[in-house]
Amino acid sequence: MSDLQLQILKSVNEHDGIESTLEVPEFAKIDANTLHSNLTSLWAKEMINFKKIETDKWILTKEAEEFLGAGSHEMRLLEEVMKSLDGLKISDVNAKLGQVGKLGQGKAFKNGWIGKNDDKLVSKVDKLPEDTAVSQLKTIKETGTLDDKKELTELKKRKLVTLTKIVGFNVTKAAKFGLEIVTMETDITSDMITSGKWKDAQFKPYNFNSEGVYPHSGALHPLMKVKEEFRQIFFSMGFTEMPSNQYVETGFWNFDTLFVPQQHPARDLQDTFYLKDPVKAGKPDDMEYWENIRQVHEEGKFGSIGYRYPWREEESLRMVLRTHTTAISAAMLHKLAKDPKPTRLFSIDRVFRNEAVDATHLAEFHQVEGVMAGYDITLGDLIGFMEDFFAKMGVNGLRFKAAYNPYTEPSLEIFAYHKGLGKWVEIGNSGMFRPEMLEPMGLPKNLRVLGWGLSLERPTMIKYGVSNIRELVGHKVSLDFVETNPAARLDEDLV
Ligand code: PHE
Repeated sequence: MSDLQLQILKSVNEHDGIESTLEVPEFAKIDANTLHSNLTSLWAKEMINFKKIETDKWILTKEAEEFLGAGSHEMRLLEEVMKSLDGLKISDVNAKLGQVGKLGQGKAFKNGWIGKNDDKLVSKVDKLPEDTAVSQLKTIKETGTLDDKKELTELKKRKLVTLTKIVGFNVTKAAKFGLEIVTMETDITSDMITSGKWKDAQFKPYNFNSEGVYPHSGALHPLMKVKEEFRQIFFSMGFTEMPSNQYVETGFWNFDTLFVPQQHPARDLQDTFYLKDPVKAGKPDDMEYWENIRQVHEEGKFGSIGYRYPWREEESLRMVLRTHTTAISAAMLHKLAKDPKPTRLFSIDRVFRNEAVDATHLAEFHQVEGVMAGYDITLGDLIGFMEDFFAKMGVNGLRFKAAYNPYTEPSLEIFAYHKGLGKWVEIGNSGMFRPEMLEPMGLPKNLRVLGWGLSLERPTMIKYGVSNIRELVGHKVSLDFVETNPAARLDEDLV
């Protein structure tokens, strides 16, 4: 038991409680936190109960403390004026008293202590009057307040006093009050049972209000939290997750199957990362499909006139870091062609683009992608479905704008109004996959497929109020940010 605890117990014992620790000089000088922790420890032993009491108290500023020693500014000015027998030249005030003279003048005039005679200050009193400011300050220092509220306000205006809250405690006896502290057991041990010590032991009651030690554990990165929310939305709409765990694709799956011509600017080194080693992949198993892709690009097929350029195998077999997860969607649709039926698939995973890095772009990001195959579905289904999907994230009132993707026709960019930014922002890209993409796989003509994609980073940055992507991804991310941010809820307004 600390001395302070014993002191508290003695005081409670003598006076049958402590009305307020603020009124007991020995406790009043101890800071509130120390008192609180000592009281809490006695309270936990059921020796006392206590309540916090807060009172307002006026305290002196540093300037006011100086007044107590040297006198108020007005008094010091008056003293100086009285010293100079035929008045103090106004032009000398500054040299003699500096700042004090300037600050004291108004008050000295108001008190009727001094007057003006031409260019001089003269005394209006015969002997030094009482220094009222100082005596008021003394009262405040002792009692924490002043009865004359007008004067108190005046002192406050002069920045001589400020109001603070001080905390004290009211203490009363509790069930196990005593002057000695019995150590209470927190656990019953086998020793206590065999020795019989448990019979006389006092046990500490459980404190169900205390918070346990926070267990140190892993934490989900915000991107993963938002990813999880998207997954739940997809699952709730009957989607199945695609296996997207491969970052390297061939040009064939990343571009050719998607009817992206081999001269398309997206295939440029500037936009796409190519692998050095191995530089080339083997051909796919389905050679009929491979041949169909060549023909649809080079000569045209399935009612399309194609692009009519010499399609090169080497280009198709180059290894790339996938630029979109649509490469996975293509592979999954190719599989679906073996047993065609209405299907809903999604993936949320990393893609790579060789782009200039700035506050909102890195050379990699996560794509949220969905594809939906259905018999005779139309652009109307795409629009209706997008409205349902985004409504699940709290994004309503979409607008659509015609756009271009080599693999979809028509293609639509999706816009939503961002209240914070006060403008329409693009939130996704979508379209109906072209026959040039679907028919080489062997999918029936009337099994149409729509698809859309968006980034995971953008909604995450909006959700967590992050404006620089480097605070979200990479070595500059603060672990504290990752560990303490709350779970994401996409059903509240996002934009
Ligand atoms: N692959 C597109 C992108 O990178 C997204 C998309 C997927 C568009 C499917 C249409 C259909 O933005």
